[in-house]
Amino acid sequence: MITHARLSTKQKDSILDAVCRINLWEGAIRSGKTIASILAWLLYVRNAPPGPLAIIGKTRDSIGRNVLDVIADIAPGAIVFNRGAPTCRILGRLVHVIGANDAKAEKVLRGLTLAGAYVDEVTVIPEGFFRQLLGRLSVPGAKLFGTTNPDTPSHWLMKDFIKKLTLPVGDPDRPDMVSFHFELTDNPGLEPDYVAGLMAEFTGLWFLRFIRGLWVAAEGAIYSMLEEQKHTRPAPPKDRWQAALVGIDFGTSNPTHALLVVLAADEEGELGLYVVAEWEHDGRAKGQLSTAQQSDRLMKWAAPLLADTGLDPIVVLDPSAAPLRVQMRADGWPGLRSADNRVDVGLQAVASLFAGARLFIDPVACPVLWDQLCGYVWDEKALVERGIEQPVKLNDHGCDALRYAIMAARMIWRVWLPALAAEDTRQAA
Ligand SMILES: Nc1ncnc2c1ncn2[C@@H]1O[C@H](COP(=O)(O)OP(=O)(O)OP(=O)(O)O)[C@@H](O)[C@H]1O
Ligand SMILES: [Mg+2]
Repeated sequence: MITHARLSTKQKDSILDAVCRINLWEGAIRSGKTIASILAWLLYVRNAPPGPLAIIGKTRDSIGRNVLDVIADIAPGAIVFNRGAPTCRILGRLVHVIGANDAKAEKVLRGLTLAGAYVDEVTVIPEGFFRQLLGRLSVPGAKLFGTTNPDTPSHWLMKDFIKKLTLPVGDPDRPDMVSFHFELTDNPGLEPDYVAGLMAEFTGLWFLRFIRGLWVAAEGAIYSMLEEQKHTRPAPPKDRWQAALVGIDFGTSNPTHALLVVLAADEEGELGLYVVAEWEHDGRAKGQLSTAQQSDRLMKWAAPLLADTGLDPIVVLDPSAAPLRVQMRADGWPGLRSADNRVDVGLQAVASLFAGARLFIDPVACPVLWDQLCGYVWDEKALVERGIEQPVKLNDHGCDALRYAIMAARMIWRVWLPALAAEDTRQAA
């Protein structure tokens, strides 16, 4: 249990200063935002105006993990809840538990007149839902408490709320809001070794956002950390291969791109993931292949590569490759799986593995992949025009196949990237 005496000055000040209609804790991961905001929320609940309250997050499950469990931990007597239930009781008050991604959430919200709300991970809540929530907080004196990690500077929460705090007090456009910016040093509970580990695990865009706590745009190269010297290596000899994965991005008129990724030790015994072979077919340039032909050619490509290794590969296909999956199953391929297609986590995992020198490409065997990885860039147009953060979808089939294989290799990299694995579990809906 965390007692008041052990809170950082930043945490204590934020709790005392959370007196506005909107109270936001934003910044680096593990920086103590949730603990401070939950204490502020509990103090609020104790004296809140009469009326129902709500806790909002991505899903009821994520609220259970990120908020209700934490309340039960800090103040076991303060909360009565059942996992997954639509309501709970905090300090005797009725609290609705609403997952913003649940189909009926907006309807539930529309029927409520709230005296207070706590929002977990504000940036992942749809803007319309957040505005609706503000409208429902109509009991006089009602307050909102929320936490978030930084996102892109053009995110609605930054543009329409946080940035407007620079307007002078009294300006009608200035929201009735206070925002507390947290950095890793604001959490006195983090051991130096843990902080060093976190810093090493995150890289590029994700380092700036999650470790430094900055609202920065996804611009330029996605894998900006790539260096030929560091990241290209010939395939290790087959007798050192310990596990194998085949990642496949499937297309009929678009290219199909398959990669063989193996877990192997280098001369010093250091384990790493090596992309040792690629197979590509561009239906538009070379004529379309039926799924049966693709399955057959893939088998002829993979079988000799894996011969004498004794390894049965895990084969990961993109979720839209149902026809190829059916065909490959009929053809007797082992270990077929549908890929985890969460792009943000996948890109982060690949970037972190490159940064930590745990992922290598054989440049002679995989020239197309290497070129694609070096040219893989964020789509600035999609960000500006639609507010969507995504890679440019051009010559990216090898990049996608790699992301699928790496997501399926989570059991391997979770020991190298414990914080990312924890983050991944937390974000999973
Ligand atoms: N003052 C403190 N003393 C000791 N431990 C703390 C303190 N504040 C927070 N912690 C612990 O540090 C960890 C991270 O804190 P917290 O969950 O509040 O961070 P966060 O900023 O919400 O992180 P995230 O962005 O990852 O959700 C938790 O295990 C929490 O219990
Ligand atoms: Mg938190």
